[in-house]
Amino acid sequence: MRLNKFLSTAGVASRRKCDELIKDGKIYVNGKVQANLGTIIDEKKDVVEYLGERVNLPSSFIYLKMNKPKGYACTASDEKGRKTIFDLLEDKSVRLFNVGRLDYDTEGLIFLTNDGEFANSVIHPKFQIEKEYIVTVEGAMKESEFAVLRKGAVVDGERMPSARVNPISFDGKVTKLSVIITEGQNHQVRRMFEAIGRDIKLLKRVRIGSVHLGNLYRGKTKPMTADEIASFLK
Ligand code: URA
Repeated sequence: MRLNKFLSTAGVASRRKCDELIKDGKIYVNGKVQANLGTIIDEKKDVVEYLGERVNLPSSFIYLKMNKPKGYACTASDEKGRKTIFDLLEDKSVRLFNVGRLDYDTEGLIFLTNDGEFANSVIHPKFQIEKEYIVTVEGAMKESEFAVLRKGAVVDGERMPSARVNPISFDGKVTKLSVIITEGQNHQVRRMFEAIGRDIKLLKRVRIGSVHLGNLYRGKTKPMTADEIASFLK
């Protein structure tokens, strides 16, 4: 098996992230750094190590969906010592990682798994998986602002990918909008709104592909259904 596939299948991270770990010399095979992405290993005989621990293929895969609250970082250990989404897990005995990220102040749907191949099929740009956000901004939005967001707002001379943007409600004080994107550059939705001079009051992800956040309580997780998992593996 190729080393990057072995690592992602073993739940170390998504395939792309595993490629980075290999290139950065963080992976040892039989005691030696192995920085070659194409290395083939014998998963029964070779000893693969990451962070001083042997990497094994899991006996079973886990797929969870979480309603991430604001004020939690999407990382295994936060360098600023903030709370992380892993603090919210009831069972901390299995090593899982988050599929993609939400900002510290963003809430909503995020997947956790130990299946790097699954993670890859959710986050790799070539699969163009839709992510839907509910954005809350102060005041009423102008039609011209919608037009800029839909076409692709320009941020620091760079055009953001186009987005599907539709109003949901305006209660006289705040506007709620649905924003659907298929690419997930860092802070993409916040950057789109900054480009039109709008501060986001609340950003919440409500859907990834065909999987909806539904009525999952804030801070809670639940196993994904077989259909939900399969919808990304087509
Ligand atoms: N876009 C953002 O700006 N932040 C998120 O957390 C997710 C998408």
